[in-house]
Amino acid sequence: MRRLSHRLSRRSRALARRLPLVSCIALAACSGNAGSPATPAARGEPAIPARVAAQFPSGWRLAAGAQGTVAPQAMAVSNSPDASAAAVEILRAGGNAVDAAVALGFALTVTWPEAGNIGGGGYSVVQMADGRTATIDYREIAPLAATRDMYLDANGKLTDKSIYGHLASGVPGAVAGLTALLERYGTMPLSRVMQPAIRLARDGFVVDTALAGSMSRAQNMVNRYTGIATPYFPRGRVVGAGDRLVQPDLARTLEAIAKEGAAAFYRGWIADSLVAEMQRGGGIITKADLARYAPAWRTPLRTTYRGYALVSMPPSSSGGVVVAEALNVLEQYPTLPAFGSTQYAHVVGSAYQRAFIDRNAKLADPDFVPVPVDRLTSKAYAQALRATIGPRASRTAELETAMNAISVPREREPEHTTHYSVVDAKGNAVATTTTLNNSWGSGVWVRGAGFMLNDEMDDFAAQPGKPNMFGLVQGEANAIQPGKRMLSAMSPTIVLDSKGQVLLVLGAAGGPTIITGTSQVILNVLEHRMSLMDAMRAPRIHHQALPDSLTYEDGGLAPAVLDSLTQMGYRMRRLRALVNVNAIMRVPGGWEGVPEPRRSGGAVGY
Ligand code: DON
Repeated sequence: MRRLSHRLSRRSRALARRLPLVSCIALAACSGNAGSPATPAARGEPAIPARVAAQFPSGWRLAAGAQGTVAPQAMAVSNSPDASAAAVEILRAGGNAVDAAVALGFALTVTWPEAGNIGGGGYSVVQMADGRTATIDYREIAPLAATRDMYLDANGKLTDKSIYGHLASGVPGAVAGLTALLERYGTMPLSRVMQPAIRLARDGFVVDTALAGSMSRAQNMVNRYTGIATPYFPRGRVVGAGDRLVQPDLARTLEAIAKEGAAAFYRGWIADSLVAEMQRGGGIITKADLARYAPAWRTPLRTTYRGYALVSMPPSSSGGVVVAEALNVLEQYPTLPAFGSTQYAHVVGSAYQRAFIDRNAKLADPDFVPVPVDRLTSKAYAQALRATIGPRASRTAELETAMNAISVPREREPEHTTHYSVVDAKGNAVATTTTLNNSWGSGVWVRGAGFMLNDEMDDFAAQPGKPNMFGLVQGEANAIQPGKRMLSAMSPTIVLDSKGQVLLVLGAAGGPTIITGTSQVILNVLEHRMSLMDAMRAPRIHHQALPDSLTYEDGGLAPAVLDSLTQMGYRMRRLRALVNVNAIMRVPGGWEGVPEPRRSGGAVGY
């Protein structure tokens, strides 16, 4: 401990004197306990401790005490009941969780086209029952013709071309990622696992109110950037709830991929259609961009929280690092304040604020920028960060400088995106988050091939220091470079219990709130011992450093708590709902699946 205080540079000591907020860095670093608490097993506790009834503020709209879908053997949860059913069809036919997850991924491109995709990218975390763990990164990359300032106008002002239209798309990674995942960890041929998706596209499926609403909100944008009729709006009318959505072009595309593999997408006629679409609308993705796309197997991001092991996504997503950093800070408290209290919102919000300061400046594609993952996820760094949390709100601008001055010993420690979670009877698990970025991506539908393209280029810092669509203010590390992956917040995560068995499989949609939503469900289960349904229904908060405000859900904080947080210096921001999480938890007798209670979705098991 003493060593750490000695390593605090002279600059950081001076800063600590100037900023009362950080004046206890050295003190706490010298007196706290940096080690992880003993594991639940070592403390003689059962692997899944009994759940404790949750209590929500009286104004909160989701009641505690309900139960999700429970099934003895296997479970799939996603934002589309038809896509979850596709996964279970494959499981029942003898496939493992990876076969089922790939089936689900392709099915989502048909049944949840606002985010399920072959025109975007994503990340999967895999935990096999035999102990193998893997993370695969199939994030889009910037086209070779991309340039740092491509979204600025002649006056240096940021345009909206990183969000809408043909120039907004990165090179899609989903087909390459899903097929690589299947090849390494699946047991069935691609042609088999894609059957449900092909059937859903060719024969159609019945649209529910969630999809009908999503299509109707997207109609103007898609019409504007696509310019011809799409199956979503035949004859200018949205396919309504209860009607069938049939997608013959997409069926043909999926059949080609099922037959020829990823090459059909990256080199064959589908690639030709995509490039023709680009040329029609002034986009820059070429056949060379498509031909060189490759997914990346990454070293899984591993961390612990009070003895539970977490496996999550390392960069190019910021998700795993920021979840780990925030949870590590919170772990420094022997126990956390009561759920829903002022102090709870304060410490959790403060942990997120600090973790996002690091995210916004330091995280990026590791193939282009050195990313200090070990430092950011180390327990010693968390201890120093925890010491910067005083009794009042911290101002992000002051914290940034103070945090950069913390010296840490090197440690070697172990609108719209969509997330789906799958487990099988053997205990294999897959957590996948995938996205087009905005709902319905760039608004561009590929003619003849029948799918939407992403607007992922907006996840770069299109103008470093200026906010993107999610208000994230990011730095040079995440500036645009050809072939580079844009930073993501996607956080597919698997939590293992003290025996190393899968306990939770989860992740979320919602831009930067993905990180805070995913980690709060984890906290609710591990720290507050809520049932999964309560953990999902519990009101959420969010802090992303900039804007320097604490966001909460309408009715989610008691009025007295809101008052005291304001008195402590927080700028409070109210939203109707935060984050779209889909999760599975192991429970006595099987698995509990819970799709996001604030949105639509389906948990299917057997
Ligand atoms: O990768 C990311 O972090 C974003 N493209 C995710 C976007 C998202 O979740 C939009 N959903 N609300």
